[in-house]
Amino acid sequence: MNHTEQTAIGQDILGVLGGKNVETAFQIFAKSRKVGSVVRLPFPMENSDNQAWAVTHLDEAMKVLKDQEHFCVDPKSIDKSSNIKQSLIGKNSDSSNSSLFLSNSLNAIDEPDHRRLRTLVSKAFTPRYMESLRPRVQRLADELLDKVQEKGKMDLVKDYANPLPINVISDMIGVPKSDHLKIHEWSEGIANGLGLGTSNPETAENLKDFGNYIKELVFHKRKNPSEDLISQLILIEEEGNRLDEIELISMIQLLIFAGHETTSTLISTGTLILLDNPDQLELLKGDYSLVPSAVEELLRFNGPSTTAGPRYALKDIELGGEQIKKGDMIFPLLKSANRDEKHFTISEELDITRKIKRHLAFGQGVHMCLGAPLARVEGDIAFTTLLKRMPNLQLSIPREDVNWKFKLAAQGLTSLPISF
Ligand code: HEM
Repeated sequence: MNHTEQTAIGQDILGVLGGKNVETAFQIFAKSRKVGSVVRLPFPMENSDNQAWAVTHLDEAMKVLKDQEHFCVDPKSIDKSSNIKQSLIGKNSDSSNSSLFLSNSLNAIDEPDHRRLRTLVSKAFTPRYMESLRPRVQRLADELLDKVQEKGKMDLVKDYANPLPINVISDMIGVPKSDHLKIHEWSEGIANGLGLGTSNPETAENLKDFGNYIKELVFHKRKNPSEDLISQLILIEEEGNRLDEIELISMIQLLIFAGHETTSTLISTGTLILLDNPDQLELLKGDYSLVPSAVEELLRFNGPSTTAGPRYALKDIELGGEQIKKGDMIFPLLKSANRDEKHFTISEELDITRKIKRHLAFGQGVHMCLGAPLARVEGDIAFTTLLKRMPNLQLSIPREDVNWKFKLAAQGLTSLPISF
């Protein structure tokens, strides 16, 4: 492949990361894996000679996610005066709340702060605790389906895939039920606005309102503590200097944001993918013990996150035959790595019985998804309950009318009308 073709594929990948090339994303990724495991992106890095890269193969993506000696998530770990992150979300979003949301979250800080914060919050996220939430998640799933069962139809996104995870995470955190919808709307507005180089004033507004709401909630919980996660985190904050006020607010915002957009996408796109693959759907309906492996395959085949958060090279390093320079920005393309032909046979096909050794839908390394055990419990219950209660589910609009939206953070559906 010549230089012009390489630039063209870099441009196409950039389009996907910016929310374009919706329908052809997987073709672009397949083509880019042939070009190389590391592809240069024609993305201008402000005020620097640095380059941006996309990593398309699984081994190299793992390397970037796991090698903390060479890669970091916060460009300030390389250069304290760096403003790269701010330019990534667009200048209009430059409000104190947006920078708070992006800069202080667990996913955007390096060691030693990352380890300190992750250790604190991990105490509430043990797989054992997540398993103990099963009865509550099951009750929520049943309540949602009770509301539509008699009607024989629903919008799977609005009636099931969105409310289930937002209710679970909001309950866990301690958000009052009356505010769940508001939280969902802010969070969706933020997710829609966070594209590469996207400059969207509404996103800044959403970030501001979301931030202010959490501040007030923390204020309220200080006076009225209960069993929830916010109260536990406040206790940690008040016990010493291990978690400060800004860190506390960012953490709660991140948990709400990360905890439901992605999971609702898993449920809605997962259902559509199963409808697209009727033989696999029949197999699953015939044996519900396959649901956990189907969830892993759906995560591999088309998991919610297109890419992990951008990484930055701490030192010069050769990766996939390319010379990466200190300060270069790297996108590990999770969706592409998960279809790497070297690791998955017939990688472009869905096989719910596939024995998956490892996929990257939850990332890897120290920033690997904290909520993965919760997402797995939710996915397991959501699909099992839906298929058991509505075994005849089918799409009630023409397939070509289904609207996909690819975004930087997660990819999803605006609606999915089904009948059963
Ligand atoms: C199917 C659902 C989910 C998917 C596909 C997903 C995906 C991811 C990915 C790829 C990362 C790593 C990002 C990176 O390395 O840049 C991540 C991190 C994270 N996720 Fe999830 N996630 C899901 C559900 C959840 C849930 C339910 C929660 C919380 C309740 C959650 C909380 C987090 C947090 C806090 C981080 C940051 C961890 C750190 O930086 O140490 N996620 N997630």
